[in-house]
Amino acid sequence: MTDTIVETASAQVDAARASGHVPVVRTFFDEATFTATHVVHDPRTKRAAVIDSVQDFDQASGRTSHASADAVIAYVRETGLTVDWLLETHAHADHLSDAPYLHRALGGTLVIGREIRTVQGVFGKIFNEPESFARDGSQFDRLMDDGERFALGDIEATALHVPGHTPACLAYVIGDAVFVGDTLFMPDYGTARADFPGGDARTLFRSMRRLMQLPDATRAFLCHDYKAPNRDEFVWETTIGDEKAGNIHVHEGVGEDEFVAMREARDGTLDMPRLILPSIQVNIRAGNLPEPEDNGVSYLKLPLNLL
Ligand SMILES: [Fe+2]
Repeated sequence: MTDTIVETASAQVDAARASGHVPVVRTFFDEATFTATHVVHDPRTKRAAVIDSVQDFDQASGRTSHASADAVIAYVRETGLTVDWLLETHAHADHLSDAPYLHRALGGTLVIGREIRTVQGVFGKIFNEPESFARDGSQFDRLMDDGERFALGDIEATALHVPGHTPACLAYVIGDAVFVGDTLFMPDYGTARADFPGGDARTLFRSMRRLMQLPDATRAFLCHDYKAPNRDEFVWETTIGDEKAGNIHVHEGVGEDEFVAMREARDGTLDMPRLILPSIQVNIRAGNLPEPEDNGVSYLKLPLNLL
Protein backbone atom coordinates (compact mmCIF):
# COMPACT_ATOMS: atom_id res chain seq x y z
CA MET A 1 0.00 0.00 0.00
CA THR A 2 1.48 3.36 -0.94
CA ASP A 3 1.69 5.99 1.75
CA THR A 4 0.78 9.12 -0.17
CA ILE A 5 1.48 11.34 2.83
CA VAL A 6 5.08 10.12 3.12
CA GLU A 7 5.43 10.38 -0.67
CA THR A 8 4.38 14.02 -0.51
CA ALA A 9 6.80 14.68 2.35
CA SER A 10 9.56 12.92 0.40
CA ALA A 11 8.90 15.09 -2.64
CA GLN A 12 9.12 18.11 -0.36
CA VAL A 13 12.55 16.94 0.93
CA ASP A 14 13.83 16.32 -2.60
CA ALA A 15 12.60 19.71 -3.82
CA ALA A 16 14.21 21.53 -0.88
CA ARG A 17 17.53 19.79 -1.53
CA ALA A 18 17.38 20.43 -5.29
CA SER A 19 16.75 24.14 -4.77
CA GLY A 20 19.34 24.52 -2.01
CA HIS A 21 16.76 26.48 -0.01
CA VAL A 22 16.87 24.52 3.24
CA PRO A 23 16.18 25.48 6.86
CA VAL A 24 18.92 26.53 9.28
CA VAL A 25 18.88 24.55 12.53
CA ARG A 26 20.46 25.69 15.79
CA THR A 27 20.18 23.28 18.71
CA PHE A 28 20.23 23.97 22.45
CA PHE A 29 21.04 20.85 24.46
CA ASP A 30 19.92 20.54 28.09
CA GLU A 31 22.33 18.17 29.83
CA ALA A 32 20.08 17.94 32.91
CA THR A 33 17.38 16.13 30.91
CA PHE A 34 19.36 15.17 27.77
CA THR A 35 16.88 17.15 25.66
CA ALA A 36 17.61 18.88 22.35
CA THR A 37 15.57 22.03 21.64
CA HIS A 38 15.81 22.96 17.98
CA VAL A 39 15.33 26.45 16.60
CA VAL A 40 14.66 26.09 12.88
CA HIS A 41 14.44 28.99 10.47
CA ASP A 42 14.05 29.95 6.84
CA PRO A 43 17.20 31.94 5.98
CA ARG A 44 15.27 34.01 3.38
CA THR A 45 12.38 35.21 5.50
CA LYS A 46 13.82 34.63 8.99
CA ARG A 47 10.56 32.97 10.05
CA ALA A 48 11.27 30.40 12.76
CA ALA A 49 9.96 27.46 14.77
CA VAL A 50 11.07 26.35 18.24
CA ILE A 51 10.73 22.60 18.67
CA ASP A 52 10.49 20.95 22.14
CA SER A 53 11.50 23.61 24.64
CA VAL A 54 12.69 22.88 28.20
CA GLN A 55 11.52 24.46 31.46
CA ASP A 56 14.19 24.03 34.13
CA PHE A 57 12.90 22.24 37.21
CA ASP A 58 14.51 21.44 40.54
CA GLN A 59 12.51 18.60 41.97
CA ALA A 60 13.94 18.86 45.49
CA SER A 61 12.73 22.44 45.96
CA GLY A 62 9.79 22.29 43.53
CA ARG A 63 11.20 25.39 41.84
CA THR A 64 10.87 26.12 38.10
CA SER A 65 13.14 28.51 36.18
CA HIS A 66 13.86 29.56 32.63
CA ALA A 67 17.59 29.69 31.87
CA SER A 68 17.17 27.18 29.01
CA ALA A 69 14.33 29.14 27.42
CA ASP A 70 16.15 32.43 27.96
CA ALA A 71 19.07 31.13 25.89
CA VAL A 72 16.64 30.34 23.07
CA ILE A 73 15.03 33.78 23.35
CA ALA A 74 18.42 35.51 23.24
CA TYR A 75 19.42 33.58 20.10
CA VAL A 76 16.11 34.36 18.37
CA ARG A 77 16.51 38.08 19.10
CA GLU A 78 20.22 38.24 18.15
CA THR A 79 19.52 36.47 14.87
CA GLY A 80 16.51 38.66 14.09
CA LEU A 81 14.06 35.77 13.78
CA THR A 82 10.27 35.91 13.96
CA VAL A 83 8.82 32.86 15.70
CA ASP A 84 5.72 31.61 13.92
CA TRP A 85 5.59 28.16 15.49
CA LEU A 86 6.15 26.47 18.84
CA LEU A 87 6.08 22.78 17.96
CA GLU A 88 5.83 19.91 20.44
CA THR A 89 6.62 16.45 19.11
CA HIS A 90 4.70 14.87 22.02
CA ALA A 91 3.80 15.16 25.70
CA HIS A 92 7.25 14.48 27.17
CA ALA A 93 7.74 12.29 30.22
CA ASP A 94 11.24 13.44 31.11
CA HIS A 95 11.20 17.25 31.02
CA LEU A 96 8.76 20.10 31.39
CA SER A 97 7.89 22.13 28.29
CA ASP A 98 8.40 25.89 28.52
CA ALA A 99 6.12 26.75 25.61
CA PRO A 100 3.96 29.28 27.52
CA TYR A 101 7.06 31.25 28.61
CA LEU A 102 8.40 31.28 25.05
CA HIS A 103 4.98 32.29 23.78
CA ARG A 104 4.89 35.29 26.10
CA ALA A 105 8.35 36.40 24.92
CA LEU A 106 8.26 35.50 21.23
CA GLY A 107 4.68 34.67 20.19
CA GLY A 108 4.04 31.76 17.83
CA THR A 109 1.30 29.17 17.38
CA LEU A 110 1.63 26.27 19.84
CA VAL A 111 1.14 22.93 18.08
CA ILE A 112 0.89 19.29 19.14
CA GLY A 113 -0.64 16.17 17.57
CA ARG A 114 -4.40 15.76 17.68
CA GLU A 115 -4.07 12.54 19.68
CA ILE A 116 -2.95 14.64 22.68
CA ARG A 117 -6.62 14.27 23.61
CA THR A 118 -6.05 10.55 24.14
CA VAL A 119 -2.99 11.29 26.28
CA GLN A 120 -4.98 13.82 28.31
CA GLY A 121 -7.69 11.22 28.84
CA VAL A 122 -5.27 8.52 30.00
CA PHE A 123 -3.30 10.77 32.35
CA GLY A 124 -6.38 12.72 33.41
CA LYS A 125 -7.52 9.43 34.98
CA ILE A 126 -4.11 8.57 36.44
CA PHE A 127 -3.84 11.96 38.14
CA ASN A 128 -7.57 12.10 38.96
CA GLU A 129 -7.66 15.55 37.38
CA PRO A 130 -10.70 17.70 38.17
CA GLU A 131 -13.54 18.22 35.69
CA SER A 132 -12.06 21.63 34.93
CA PHE A 133 -9.05 19.97 33.28
CA ALA A 134 -9.99 20.00 29.57
CA ARG A 135 -9.23 16.80 27.70
CA ASP A 136 -9.91 18.26 24.26
CA GLY A 137 -6.46 19.70 23.53
CA SER A 138 -7.74 23.26 23.97
CA GLN A 139 -4.65 24.23 25.99
CA PHE A 140 -2.79 24.24 22.65
CA ASP A 141 -3.38 26.67 19.77
CA ARG A 142 -3.54 24.06 17.03
CA LEU A 143 -3.82 20.27 16.90
CA MET A 144 -2.26 18.76 13.78
CA ASP A 145 -3.30 15.63 11.93
CA ASP A 146 -1.25 13.21 9.90
CA GLY A 147 -0.25 14.84 6.62
CA GLU A 148 -1.11 18.38 7.65
CA ARG A 149 0.90 20.97 5.67
CA PHE A 150 2.20 24.25 7.00
CA ALA A 151 4.86 26.80 6.07
CA LEU A 152 8.00 28.08 7.74
CA GLY A 153 8.40 31.31 5.79
CA ASP A 154 8.97 30.13 2.20
CA ILE A 155 9.81 26.57 3.28
CA GLU A 156 7.18 23.86 3.11
CA ALA A 157 6.50 21.59 6.06
CA THR A 158 4.46 18.46 6.73
CA ALA A 159 3.38 16.84 10.00
CA LEU A 160 3.56 13.03 10.20
CA HIS A 161 1.71 11.09 12.91
CA VAL A 162 4.21 8.58 14.29
CA PRO A 163 2.62 6.96 17.37
CA GLY A 164 4.15 4.21 19.50
CA HIS A 165 6.33 5.99 22.05
CA THR A 166 3.12 7.89 22.86
CA PRO A 167 -0.21 7.95 20.97
CA ALA A 168 0.20 11.62 20.02
CA CYS A 169 3.76 11.67 18.63
CA LEU A 170 4.26 13.83 15.55
CA ALA A 171 7.36 14.17 13.39
CA TYR A 172 7.69 17.49 11.58
CA VAL A 173 9.24 17.42 8.10
CA ILE A 174 10.48 20.98 7.41
CA GLY A 175 12.20 21.46 4.05
CA ASP A 176 14.83 18.69 3.89
CA ALA A 177 14.87 18.03 7.66
CA VAL A 178 12.72 15.83 9.86
CA PHE A 179 12.31 16.42 13.58
CA VAL A 180 11.53 12.94 14.85
CA GLY A 181 10.89 13.55 18.54
CA ASP A 182 11.49 10.28 20.40
CA THR A 183 10.54 8.08 17.46
CA LEU A 184 14.21 7.37 16.71
CA PHE A 185 17.42 7.94 18.64
CA MET A 186 20.98 8.06 17.25
CA PRO A 187 21.87 4.90 15.26
CA ASP A 188 24.38 3.79 17.92
CA TYR A 189 21.83 4.24 20.75
CA GLY A 190 18.74 2.79 19.08
CA THR A 191 15.16 3.61 20.02
CA ALA A 192 12.94 5.06 22.73
CA ARG A 193 10.89 3.03 25.18
CA ALA A 194 7.31 2.17 24.31
CA ASP A 195 5.98 1.17 27.73
CA PHE A 196 4.42 4.41 28.98
CA PRO A 197 0.62 4.40 29.31
CA GLY A 198 -0.65 4.52 25.71
CA GLY A 199 2.69 3.40 24.23
CA ASP A 200 3.10 0.31 22.02
CA ALA A 201 6.27 -1.28 20.58
CA ARG A 202 4.57 -2.66 17.46
CA THR A 203 3.05 0.71 16.65
CA LEU A 204 6.45 2.34 17.23
CA PHE A 205 8.10 -0.09 14.80
CA ARG A 206 5.61 0.81 12.07
CA SER A 207 6.12 4.52 12.69
CA MET A 208 9.90 4.15 12.45
CA ARG A 209 9.61 2.19 9.21
CA ARG A 210 7.35 4.97 7.94
CA LEU A 211 9.99 7.62 8.67
CA MET A 212 12.54 5.40 6.94
CA GLN A 213 10.56 5.82 3.70
CA LEU A 214 11.79 9.42 3.55
CA PRO A 215 14.81 9.99 1.26
CA ASP A 216 18.14 8.74 2.65
CA ALA A 217 19.56 12.27 2.57
CA THR A 218 16.83 13.67 4.83
CA ARG A 219 18.49 15.32 7.82
CA ALA A 220 17.04 13.83 11.01
CA PHE A 221 17.04 15.77 14.29
CA LEU A 222 16.32 13.97 17.57
CA CYS A 223 14.72 15.16 20.79
CA HIS A 224 17.20 13.33 23.03
CA ASP A 225 20.67 11.87 23.17
CA TYR A 226 22.26 9.96 26.03
CA LYS A 227 25.64 9.35 24.39
CA ALA A 228 26.26 5.67 23.63
CA PRO A 229 28.89 3.18 24.68
CA ASN A 230 32.18 4.32 23.09
CA ARG A 231 30.89 7.84 22.39
CA ASP A 232 31.85 10.83 24.56
CA GLU A 233 29.85 13.58 22.88
CA PHE A 234 26.17 14.36 22.70
CA VAL A 235 24.88 14.18 19.11
CA TRP A 236 21.35 14.97 17.94
CA GLU A 237 21.62 14.99 14.15
CA THR A 238 21.84 12.08 11.72
CA THR A 239 20.21 11.13 8.41
CA ILE A 240 17.42 8.76 7.50
CA GLY A 241 19.96 6.80 5.41
CA ASP A 242 22.23 6.33 8.43
CA GLU A 243 19.28 5.22 10.58
CA LYS A 244 18.28 2.65 7.95
CA ALA A 245 21.80 1.35 7.54
CA GLY A 246 22.94 1.38 11.11
CA ASN A 247 20.33 1.84 13.86
CA ILE A 248 21.22 -0.91 16.31
CA HIS A 249 17.55 -1.69 17.04
CA VAL A 250 15.77 -1.10 13.71
CA HIS A 251 18.24 -1.08 10.84
CA GLU A 252 16.90 -2.51 7.59
CA GLY A 253 16.44 -6.25 7.93
CA VAL A 254 15.19 -6.20 11.52
CA GLY A 255 11.67 -7.65 11.55
CA GLU A 256 8.67 -6.36 13.46
CA ASP A 257 8.40 -9.33 15.85
CA GLU A 258 12.13 -9.27 16.53
CA PHE A 259 12.01 -5.57 17.37
CA VAL A 260 8.92 -5.92 19.58
CA ALA A 261 10.51 -8.77 21.57
CA MET A 262 13.72 -6.78 22.07
CA ARG A 263 11.91 -3.53 22.98
CA GLU A 264 9.50 -5.13 25.45
CA ALA A 265 12.26 -7.10 27.17
CA ARG A 266 14.39 -3.99 27.47
CA ASP A 267 11.52 -1.79 28.66
CA GLY A 268 10.85 -4.31 31.41
CA THR A 269 14.26 -3.49 32.90
CA LEU A 270 13.97 0.34 32.83
CA ASP A 271 13.11 2.54 35.81
CA MET A 272 10.52 5.28 35.35
CA PRO A 273 12.10 8.56 34.18
CA ARG A 274 13.13 10.76 37.11
CA LEU A 275 10.74 13.59 36.15
CA ILE A 276 7.81 11.61 34.70
CA LEU A 277 5.25 12.64 37.32
CA PRO A 278 5.92 16.40 37.24
CA SER A 279 6.54 16.41 33.46
CA ILE A 280 3.30 14.76 32.49
CA GLN A 281 1.16 16.93 34.76
CA VAL A 282 2.66 20.08 33.23
CA ASN A 283 2.90 18.89 29.63
CA ILE A 284 -0.72 17.73 29.31
CA ARG A 285 -1.45 21.40 30.17
CA ALA A 286 0.78 22.57 27.30
CA GLY A 287 3.59 23.54 29.69
CA ASN A 288 1.39 25.40 32.18
CA LEU A 289 1.52 24.61 35.89
CA PRO A 290 -1.69 23.22 37.46
CA GLU A 291 -4.30 25.82 38.50
CA PRO A 292 -3.15 27.49 41.73
CA GLU A 293 -5.06 26.54 44.89
CA ASP A 294 -6.82 29.18 47.06
CA ASN A 295 -3.46 30.24 48.54
CA GLY A 296 -2.14 31.06 45.07
CA VAL A 297 0.29 28.12 44.96
CA SER A 298 0.32 25.40 42.26
CA TYR A 299 0.82 21.82 43.42
CA LEU A 300 1.85 18.62 41.65
CA LYS A 301 0.44 15.24 42.66
CA LEU A 302 2.40 12.10 43.45
CA PRO A 303 0.19 9.05 42.82
CA LEU A 304 1.34 6.26 45.10
CA ASN A 305 1.71 2.67 43.95
CA LEU A 306 0.08 3.35 40.61
CA LEU A 307 2.75 3.53 37.89
FE1 LIG B 1 9.43 11.30 25.13
